[in-house]
Amino acid sequence: MVTAGPTREPLDPVRFISNRSSGKMGYAIAAAARLRGHDVLLVSGPVALEVPAGIRRIMVETAEQMQQAVIGNLDTVDALVMAAAVADWRPAVVHRQKQKKSKMEAVLQLEPVPDILAQVAGIKGSRLVVGFAAETENLLGEARRKLSAKRLDMIVANDVTAPDAGFEVDTNRVVLVWPDGSSRELPCMPKSEVAQYIIEWLEKQLPASTA
Ligand code: PMT
Repeated sequence: MVTAGPTREPLDPVRFISNRSSGKMGYAIAAAARLRGHDVLLVSGPVALEVPAGIRRIMVETAEQMQQAVIGNLDTVDALVMAAAVADWRPAVVHRQKQKKSKMEAVLQLEPVPDILAQVAGIKGSRLVVGFAAETENLLGEARRKLSAKRLDMIVANDVTAPDAGFEVDTNRVVLVWPDGSSRELPCMPKSEVAQYIIEWLEKQLPASTA
């Protein structure tokens, strides 16, 4: 199972909080896994990408919907790669009607969104779980903190400040980081190649019958 794209957290029927994720990184991982013969379930936030051939896709909008799709399908998969840029906060109140400009509050009340990977950590069993860390500072420090806090098997540390990496572009610059403290920095390369590194690493960890 691969997650991709942003989530949208509604404020009213016409407005939402979201982020710049295009889905390209997650879709590249799903396509790489499919190319190597794996059954792939893609859980996707709203993006403008076609579903790659042979892949089952569940479209979601909010982090809560993504959580339900991931948790609801976890027992059917060997591995989960969370490339989606999931919201950390959402509006505390979702208005049923479009808010009038004259009546809108200047300060938006937010509430935390449950962390999907943190929930997965408690129920993953022997499944392999790979997360991403999208960072603008202290890349490796933050990635290692998330790797440990979310009990991941690998984290893909993604410096999203470089113009040829992170959100929206076709290339990426990442460091693969493991729980034993080791890491591997990959040069700038197409997202399709980053995806291959991730899938090949997963295959090496999986029993021969599933890889
Ligand atoms: O989609 P693109 O335009 O190609 O851009 C790719 C990308 C920059 C979105 C991707 O490479 C990336 O870095 N994805 C992770 C973005 C993110 O949400 O990072 P984070 O550091 O905030 O979260 C850490 C991990 O926790 C992520 O695996 C995330 O999916 C997960 N998470 C976050 C919040 C939440 N409520 N639940 C989660 O499970």
